[in-house]
Amino acid sequence: MVDEAARRHADRVWAARHGVETGAALRFGSLSRRMWQAGAPEALVELAAQASRDETRHASRCEDILRGRQAPVPPPETRLLEYAPPELTPEQRLTYEVVAQSCVSETESMATLVTLLDAARDERLRSVIHELARDEVGHARIGWGYLTWARERMDLSFLAALLPVMVGGSAGPDLFRPALPGTDDPGLFHSGVVPHSERQRIYLETLESVVIPGMHEHGVDTGPLRQWMDQRRAELAHAPRDA
Ligand SMILES: [Fe+2]
Ligand SMILES: [Fe+2]
Repeated sequence: MVDEAARRHADRVWAARHGVETGAALRFGSLSRRMWQAGAPEALVELAAQASRDETRHASRCEDILRGRQAPVPPPETRLLEYAPPELTPEQRLTYEVVAQSCVSETESMATLVTLLDAARDERLRSVIHELARDEVGHARIGWGYLTWARERMDLSFLAALLPVMVGGSAGPDLFRPALPGTDDPGLFHSGVVPHSERQRIYLETLESVVIPGMHEHGVDTGPLRQWMDQRRAELAHAPRDA
């Protein structure tokens, strides 16, 4: 049984996911066009365009879940959000956005969804989570494929110092703060939501097991990112469990 604060939190998380999916649809559409302009392989350009369509479908699945929970459906994200520092060159900015969206966000989202898949009892919820998880695996691959192509054409070392900010931005402002009331309830798993402390653990573990080895493989120094992770771990070890 999930208490009232946890139930409201689950509504907010599904509403936030709806925003993330609509935003990702816009971002993949833009990345596909920019990859095409940069001369990236057609297969990657097409995969990014397909990812944009997938994200629109994901948003409508989130809408279904919200309706099923009798929670309000928020308006879609209409802004094309970009995170690359403006001082980068255009090709570095494209690379930054591809890495942030694909290699980091999609990889983290996949890890979250796979965890949820094990816990979801409700058949409808389970099938939505399964569909989303399957697609995010492909969306994450776009980034690694792009880096394989890009590293032959440009120096990727600029990414090293930027990874902590990128990864911190993707985590959002609340992830490494103490849990707010209702956000760390284990019952949340059954609503398709990972409790707060488990989210922290999954986020760091996925960086460790997927993002760091992937960056290393593409010749990007992961020292600054590791340092950032050590700081987060030290904070978590000293922080109280609840706000
Ligand atoms: Fe998605
Ligand atoms: Fe995705």
